[in-house]
Amino acid sequence: MSRALVIGGTRGIGLALSDRLRTLGWNVRSTGSAVDITDPMAWPEFLEEQPYDLVVFSAGRLDVAPWGVKRLSDLLASYSLHAAAPVALLAAHGSKLLGWWSKVVFISTVGAVNSGAVDLGYGMAKAALEKAARALAEHSSWRVYLIRFDLVDTDMIRLLPGDTMDGRLALSPAEAADQIIREAEL
Ligand SMILES: NC(=O)c1ccc[n+]([C@@H]2O[C@H](COP(=O)([O-])OP(=O)(O)OC[C@H]3O[C@@H](n4cnc5c(N)ncnc54)[C@H](OP(=O)(O)O)[C@@H]3O)[C@@H](O)[C@H]2O)c1
Repeated sequence: MSRALVIGGTRGIGLALSDRLRTLGWNVRSTGSAVDITDPMAWPEFLEEQPYDLVVFSAGRLDVAPWGVKRLSDLLASYSLHAAAPVALLAAHGSKLLGWWSKVVFISTVGAVNSGAVDLGYGMAKAALEKAARALAEHSSWRVYLIRFDLVDTDMIRLLPGDTMDGRLALSPAEAADQIIREAEL
């Protein structure tokens, strides 16, 4: 049975993907903020005896506020959660976490490339993640997938101001999970 770790798998897209993978016969471990990916002391908790065949980075947090009130600590917290921690975790423990054959899935947002600024730190961090995903796809043995969504109907988008939702369709978490399954060929 193929084994997957879904970081950020307790709610939203990660939870829907975990459920979907289980129906496809995967053995899935889903973690949430109780295993804080931004805390290097917590990283050994992700490891098991055997490497995973798939690791999905679906942890996320939106901190809606005008860019002008953001502090450096806010921006660094976003950067850590969405971009730096996944890369640093893979650098520190990738050889135990994954086999050479394994797949890695990162989840990005249209906010990485558009001019939206409802959470500028989030968009900036996702832009950094997209760079990281391209680099790891070329400079690691793993098969790396970057899946980019617009809106997915999870707790996260309930934080968005109403006018940013105008005319935009939101996928259900199950639809987002199916897109990940398709694009990452799971
Ligand atoms: N929803 C969208 O419209 C959308 C669009 C594009 C991209 N994305 C991206 O898709 C991913 C999933 O988003 P979502 O909408 O499913 O979010 P969500 O429903 O808010 O779920 C967030 C998940 O991240 C976990 N988490 C938060 N902080 C963490 C930390 N420090 N360490 C480990 N886990 C942590 C949460 O755990 P707890 O349950 O313990 O809080 C939860 O499982 C995120 O990377 C997000 O940026 C979302």
